[in-house]
Amino acid sequence: TSAANTLIIGEPSEELTIHRDLFGQFSEHIGEGIYGGIWVGKDSAIENVNGIRTDVVNALKALKIPVIRWPGGCFADQYHWREGIGPREDRVSRLNAWGNIIETNQFGSHEFMEFIRQIDSKVYINVNLGSATVKDATDWLEYLTAAAPTSLAKERAENGHPEPYKVKYIGFGNEAWGCGGAMTAGEYFSRLKRYSTFALNLNPEQQFSGIDLLFDRGASNPHAMIKVAAGANDLDTEFTEKMMQLWAQAPGYLPIFDALSLHHYTMSRGPMSDSASEFEHSEYLRFVAMAQEMDTILKAHSAIMDKYDPERSVGLVVDEWGNWLKPDLATNPAFLKQNNTLRDAITAGVTLNIFARNAARVKMANIAQMVNVIQAMVLTQGEAMIVTPTYHLFKMYVPFQDAQLLPVDHKPGTINVGDKTIPTIDAMAARANDGSVWLALINIDSEHTLTVEPVLGTVAIKKAAGDVLTSAQVNDANSFKHPNRVNARQVSFAAKGSQPLKITLPPASVSVIQLSTK
Ligand code: AHR
Repeated sequence: TSAANTLIIGEPSEELTIHRDLFGQFSEHIGEGIYGGIWVGKDSAIENVNGIRTDVVNALKALKIPVIRWPGGCFADQYHWREGIGPREDRVSRLNAWGNIIETNQFGSHEFMEFIRQIDSKVYINVNLGSATVKDATDWLEYLTAAAPTSLAKERAENGHPEPYKVKYIGFGNEAWGCGGAMTAGEYFSRLKRYSTFALNLNPEQQFSGIDLLFDRGASNPHAMIKVAAGANDLDTEFTEKMMQLWAQAPGYLPIFDALSLHHYTMSRGPMSDSASEFEHSEYLRFVAMAQEMDTILKAHSAIMDKYDPERSVGLVVDEWGNWLKPDLATNPAFLKQNNTLRDAITAGVTLNIFARNAARVKMANIAQMVNVIQAMVLTQGEAMIVTPTYHLFKMYVPFQDAQLLPVDHKPGTINVGDKTIPTIDAMAARANDGSVWLALINIDSEHTLTVEPVLGTVAIKKAAGDVLTSAQVNDANSFKHPNRVNARQVSFAAKGSQPLKITLPPASVSVIQLSTK
């Protein structure tokens, strides 16, 4: 144990909400991401409600998932929504490019909405801009959201859901520069304009009236659907620059998009080359250093957006992020099923802290992907299910949803990683809606226990309690044989006499701690 690190928690100069949607998830038709992982069908021996597995729903409910992006990813630009509605026995089968397997369309719009209902989340639909039409997209939205008895609303009712659904976010295509159609930003923008203009949410609770539609979109209805344009990858700031230029120049009364997306995976030498669970200590540190690059990337894109949109009316949404590693659990490498270790939880914590600090511009994020794919929350194998270290991390971070960021001033030690220097402790603080102050404390140093002394203005902190997530080795994972190897445990600390309260942080750990002045 080394000397304590004083952590001064200040008051913000302006309110900054850590939007709950920063803790969003992504679910694509890849491998067992949907089939087997979420959807098992009503006749399955696996316990389910309306075909959706109960163990997965129960586990995910504890994460209070604010929003889920579906059906892709690259899959979204091959997806034809009509093939996934109506009697399941009549649905169209197609080849899914992820692993060249048959997509049976058993899980379509109604099944996704039922899943959203069961886990009490919100909807982010990604429409097919790459290989379908504007009409397909507008019809899909009308089918989902119209209350009036239009033919599409009636069809939805005949398919079992008379009530209109809500769609909080709509994305137009995915990775337009790549699998979404290999377009330049300019080419994408000119397609996007038509999609965006005609994409109307007809749910009366989300709609805005005729006059609002012309002059006053967002302000008139806080529940109005948010339009997300497919954006850049990594540090491709040119793509963002072009999109923002065109956004600012676009004539007319409707903003072409309310949010611009960004994808950034932590990986090296292309996807799937880094071992998910067999790695040395130096490799752990290299990953933490790579995860910290998210901050540089967000700042680079935000700076460009500030130029064209100083009012920050356009949100930056990181709708794909995570550690993309070797698919060591996959039967088919294209299923992207990978192991998940303590390292993944630590880098997820580092990333969520970065999102919180950049929350002035970053309004939503969706980790890839929720079930069985890339950096998953849960893994299934037949009827068995386990939760991953990343799951525990997301569960611990629930108190930060919609909390107000508080500045933290401290001087952590440093670790050299190649030509980079990373801090030993990553600290983030926030005030929840009930007034309680929470800390997320990541001890990145995997060799030493560290201690912090939080200071909250002039009021003495008497006690602190919360959860810590750690394990003996940074590459420890949960397995179907040992499902609880990496698990969170409760911790509490109390000040001794008039001494400042000390919080100890085990090596390679994440602690989420609530402070108490009573
Ligand atoms: O998440 C897996 C894939 O990664 C997505 O389909 C695509 O958008 C990205 O390249």
